[in-house]
Amino acid sequence: MSTLIAIDGPSGSGKSTTARLLARRLGLGYLDTGAMYRAATCEYLRRFPDGAGAEEAADLVRSCRLVVETSPDEPRFRINDTDVTEEIREPRISAAVSGLATNLEVRRLLTALMRDIIAAHSRDMVVEGRDITTVVAPDADVRVLLVADPQSRVARRAAEVAGRATKEDVTDQVLRRDRDDSTVSNFTEAADGVTVIDSTFLSPDEVVDRIVALVPSR
Ligand code: DC
Repeated sequence: MSTLIAIDGPSGSGKSTTARLLARRLGLGYLDTGAMYRAATCEYLRRFPDGAGAEEAADLVRSCRLVVETSPDEPRFRINDTDVTEEIREPRISAAVSGLATNLEVRRLLTALMRDIIAAHSRDMVVEGRDITTVVAPDADVRVLLVADPQSRVARRAAEVAGRATKEDVTDQVLRRDRDDSTVSNFTEAADGVTVIDSTFLSPDEVVDRIVALVPSR
C-alpha cells in the first residue's frame, strides 16, 4: 500500500523542513515543487535576462529537461543538464519566481511533470507546495495546510538567508510573494478534507508527529 502525503502552505510556514523530516521518518520519497518553479526560473533568467512574454516562458518550460531528485536527504535539481540546486535559493530567483508561478500554461506543464514524478514513485511520497492538496494531488491519502503567523514566517525565512538579505528585504519578499502567488492558488484556506496545522508554536518534530497521526495505518 502506498502513502501519498500532500502539504501546502505559504513561504516560511515550515513546509520544507517538515516535509523532509516526515519523508525520512516514514521512508518515503520527497518532492519540493517550489524548487521546480525555481529551477525553471533559473533557466528563464539565463535565456531571457531582459525578460520575455508569457508564451516564451511557457515554450521554455515545455522544451526544457528538468530532472528532480526525490531523496529527502539532499534533493538535487538539474535543468538542461545544469545543476541549479544552489542557484535556486538565491534572492534574485526568489524575487523572480512568481513571474513563472503565475503563468497558467507554465503551471499546467509543471503540474503534469509533478504527477508523472509522483506516479513514477508509486505514490509513495511527501509532496509540498501551494496547490498540492487542491490541484496536483487532491486524492492524496493525507492532505495538510501548514500555516504560521506572518512574523514567525518572516523570521524563519530571514534565518534561512542569514547574511544574504536584510530583514526588510525578506519581509517585503515574503509578503509580496504570498500576495502574487495567491492570485493563482489558494493556500491560505483549507479545501474540504484538508487538515490545518498551525506551526507558529510547534517545533518541526511536533508538526511531523501531528501529520504522522493522520496517516492511515499501512
Ligand atoms: O516554496 P517556494 O518558496 O520554494 O516556492 C517557490 C515559488 O513557487 C513560490 O513563488 C510559489 C510557487 N509555487 C507554486 O505556485 N505552486 C507550487 N506547487 C509550489 C510553489
